[in-house]
Amino acid sequence: MQRVFSGIQPSGIPTLGNYLGAIRNWVGLQSDHECIWCVVDLHAITVFQDPKALRQQTLEMAATLLACGVDPQNHILFAQSSVRSHVQLAWIFNCVARIGWLNRMTQFKDKAGKDRENASAGLYVYPNLMAADIHAYHATRVPVGDDQRQHLELANDIAKKFNFDYGVEFFPQIEPLILGPAARVMSLRDGTKKMSKSDPSEQSRINMNDDGDAIALKIRRAKTDPEPLPDAVAGLEGRPEARNLVGIYAALAETDHASVLQDFGGKGFGTFKEALAELMVEKLAPINNETRRWLDDEGSIVRILQAGAERAAAIADPIVAEAERLVGFIGLQR
Ligand code: TRP
Repeated sequence: MQRVFSGIQPSGIPTLGNYLGAIRNWVGLQSDHECIWCVVDLHAITVFQDPKALRQQTLEMAATLLACGVDPQNHILFAQSSVRSHVQLAWIFNCVARIGWLNRMTQFKDKAGKDRENASAGLYVYPNLMAADIHAYHATRVPVGDDQRQHLELANDIAKKFNFDYGVEFFPQIEPLILGPAARVMSLRDGTKKMSKSDPSEQSRINMNDDGDAIALKIRRAKTDPEPLPDAVAGLEGRPEARNLVGIYAALAETDHASVLQDFGGKGFGTFKEALAELMVEKLAPINNETRRWLDDEGSIVRILQAGAERAAAIADPIVAEAERLVGFIGLQR
């Protein structure tokens, strides 16, 4: 069975984009893969996080994952900072990756923005830590959103250079799994921008803890154009907001753009938005309730994460210890 690894940042309330683009796909992979799911708190602090909020958001992310069907018994769910091997391997990778490679990362350019000099050093080497997350487990399949593709290419370049420099075949190549019709859920205010936890506008996203009224209001206010919906997918060309809403509907209904347009082609956005809001509430309300149930028992989430960390460390520690030996470190006699 192939080993899957993926991570998600606890840097805000999970959004519909996280659910459709990532979490739901994770759950599907559990039936025929050995899965390791990680709440990446080390990645989160590459931009400052209030400590209380970070702790709370880590618990909320774990609760949402559990509510969505992540299985912590047959698979592994843990918080990244609890397994020290990630950081130890990341340091080695900091010394393998070239500055030129990191300079090409578009996400760093986007996130650092104009004030590059003031971005944290951690934000710059973020992709090296992500490579370490995956390679510490010799994971070969990594489900991610489209925006992470470049980071996975970098992780493969790091593996190749490590293997070459040390004359070994130690780290395997990884295969990105870019899944589903909604691999990219876009902002409700701007169909060309990804839906994001960090967008300053609340109206731009559906939070996984939004209630029915909030969902209905945000969908009603979502940006659209004045035309009715087209009859065929080609008619979505140049209409990013229409494409996004149709894509969200398709993903929630587990169908495709074409069949949504079969039902709604020629109809106005008023009708379509009403149906979309209703479908969304129907799908998200049970998850919302289940998440709250988990959060009422914080202790049980903490126990699950800690048990997950122990099992994760049992896989990662020997792999990272071997990488350290290959590098020439004396290591600890245990
Ligand atoms: N960088 C990823 C994101 O923001 C999260 C992540 C961290 C990740 N480590 C990972 C994803 C390892 C896949 C594998 O979406």
